[in-house]
Amino acid sequence: MSNSGEAELLHTFKGIPFTTRSSPELLKSLDTFDAREDDVLLVSYPKSGTHWLAGVITKLYNTQVTITSPIEFGDISQLDKLNKLSSKRIIPTHLDYNMLPPNFKNKKCKMIYISRNPKDTAVSMFHYYRDNPNLPTVDTWTAFFDLFLKGNVVCGSWFDHFLSWEEHEDEKNILFLFYEDMKKDLPKVVKEITLFLSLNVSDSDIRDICEKSSFLEMKNDTEKENSDPTHTVCALTSNRKLIFRKGAVGDWKNYFTPKQNIRFQEIFNEKMKLSKM
Ligand code: A3P
Repeated sequence: MSNSGEAELLHTFKGIPFTTRSSPELLKSLDTFDAREDDVLLVSYPKSGTHWLAGVITKLYNTQVTITSPIEFGDISQLDKLNKLSSKRIIPTHLDYNMLPPNFKNKKCKMIYISRNPKDTAVSMFHYYRDNPNLPTVDTWTAFFDLFLKGNVVCGSWFDHFLSWEEHEDEKNILFLFYEDMKKDLPKVVKEITLFLSLNVSDSDIRDICEKSSFLEMKNDTEKENSDPTHTVCALTSNRKLIFRKGAVGDWKNYFTPKQNIRFQEIFNEKMKLSKM
C-alpha cells in the first residue's frame, strides 16, 4: 500500500481484511442471516472465475433466478433487501467457510466453490488492485506479491480461504470446481453443475451455453452492458471491463521471477501439506 490515507479503504473483521464497502454492522449480522433451502451459493476467493461461473449458471435455469450482490457487501440494509427478494436467490460470496452464516450450513444449501491456481489468482488480483479505485494502490508487482503471500489483501489469505472450504469438500451439498478444468473442458464441468443442481439441460443446450460463456463472448457482452451496474457480481466495481482481463491459464509465468516462484512454492508446500490439492 503506498499511502496511509488509503488504509481507510480496508478494515479488518475477525482477522480478515474487508473493504469498507462491507460494513462492520452487516458483517456482524451475518451470523443471524436467514437462509432459504433453495438458495445456491457461489463461493470463491476473489479473481477465481466467479463471474464466469455466475454467467454459466444463470443460463442453466429456465425459471426466474436472481444473482444477488455478494452477501458480505454493503450496509446492513442489504440483508433486508435479500430477505425481501421473491425469486430464487443465487448468492455470490467471498467469505471463508468459518464466516459463512450458519443457517446456510444448517439448511444444507447447495454451494459451489470455484478455485484457481493461486499464482494466476495473485496476478489477476494485482491487476484488479491497480485498476480499481476502491482498493488500495499497489505500486509494483513485487509489492503486491508480498501482500498476497502474507494474506494482507482483501479477503485475506488464499491458503486459509481454500483450506477452510476444502475441509468440507466431501459434503454432498458442496461442489468443488477448478477454473483450469473449466478452461480445459467447459461442457464437462457444466454437465457436472447441472447434475449437482438437479437441472435438466440437454447436451445441445449445454454446448450452446458454453459457446455463449467463452471469454470473448462474455467480454463483448460486457461492452454492451457496461452502463448497467446491476450486471456485476463483483462487490467492488460496476465496471465490468475490469473483470474480463485476459482469461488465461498460466499468466503467472509472465510475472513471477524464478526467486518469487521458489518462495511461493515453499509457502504453498508448507501451508498446503494437509491439502489434497
Ligand atoms: P484474469 O484477470 O486472469 O483475466 P472473478 O470473476 O472471480 O473476479 O475472476 C476474474 C477472472 O476470471 C479474470 O481473470 C477474468 O478474465 C476471468 N474470466 C472471466 N470470465 C471468463 C471466461 N468466460 N473465461 C475465462 N476466464 C474468465
